[in-house]
Amino acid sequence: MWLRNCWYVVAWNHEIPAADSPQLFTRTVLGEPVLVYRTQAGELVALEDRCCHRHAPLSVGRREGDCVRCGYHGLKFDPQGQCVEAPGIEIVPAKARVRRYPVAVKNNWVFVWMGEAGRADAALLPDNFSCDSPQWKHKPGYLHYDTPYLLICDNLLDFSHLSYVHEKSLGGSTRIAQSRPVIEPVPGATADWPQMGIKVSRHVNDVPAPPFYQRFRRFDTNLDRWFVYEFLLPGTLLMHSGGRPTGAAPDAAGPSVRLHSCQSLTPETTTTTHYFFQQSHPVDEGDDTVTESIFNSLVGAFNEDRDMITAQHRNIQLNPTLPMMPLAMDAALAQFRRLLETRVQAEHRASTASPPTAATA
Ligand code: FES
Ligand SMILES: [Fe+2]
Repeated sequence: MWLRNCWYVVAWNHEIPAADSPQLFTRTVLGEPVLVYRTQAGELVALEDRCCHRHAPLSVGRREGDCVRCGYHGLKFDPQGQCVEAPGIEIVPAKARVRRYPVAVKNNWVFVWMGEAGRADAALLPDNFSCDSPQWKHKPGYLHYDTPYLLICDNLLDFSHLSYVHEKSLGGSTRIAQSRPVIEPVPGATADWPQMGIKVSRHVNDVPAPPFYQRFRRFDTNLDRWFVYEFLLPGTLLMHSGGRPTGAAPDAAGPSVRLHSCQSLTPETTTTTHYFFQQSHPVDEGDDTVTESIFNSLVGAFNEDRDMITAQHRNIQLNPTLPMMPLAMDAALAQFRRLLETRVQAEHRASTASPPTAATA
């Protein structure tokens, strides 16, 4: 159940080698191997990483100018995905080509559009501003999961788990699980997308500072904490969070923590997932050691999530048809799953009513 006509993060921008590098970057998205490289002019190109001849990965071939030559029998492809040379063959068949995907860079995230190329719409790129902002600082992160992406979406849509999975890291209080978040739809950006995702606002007052906060600032009082985020299709979380001394006004001077986090999930296969993440702090609130400390705390906490979700997935696989028990804490994830299902079905209906004319750009 994947949405295809949308952007998926394929990499952090710094992961894609420079134009003059012999290295070729590849990552599988929605079960399709995708090769990403830069032309001499610096433009990003995303091609199917599977030669049309015998399906060898182009990424184990080599760059030749702005083209890529397959390392098996030498077919050469231009940045449009068209084969322009086939050793020993005088006239290259026009249909000798690989798929080219629309690609976009926004604030250091590289996105690929996995559906109909003609429908690629920059307005649907998420506002991951703190990934590249002079006001915010972070260290970029990536984790690989051996679980389906929806189980990780579920996790990010229900922060009650902070009290238990992250008891000794991000959480620190059972009051997080006891609080009830406000859940609202996020309005869509285009007529095609009436709803982009789910907004979750959770405020937890008068709780001890979590161990995570204490690592970069000492608090002698309890805090009022907030987690306000949008979780957008197909799987991007954009969150403002923080804490201030209990009872302090939002604009009061004094110690507080303000963070912005961008996280995105990209299905690799039906059972594996790419997880891109960062948590930013304001540049004038903390030096490099704070940035490093936040990153290390986040990696530690996300490994806690991964251990739990991996164990959950193992159990689900033992008996996949066994029903789960829906509870109040599942409201946001249930709404997100319904929204995704609706969009996937609409996409399916549209594609069966009028088959796409071109899958390539
Ligand atoms: S598999 Fe690429 S040229 Fe044969
Ligand atoms: Fe978590």
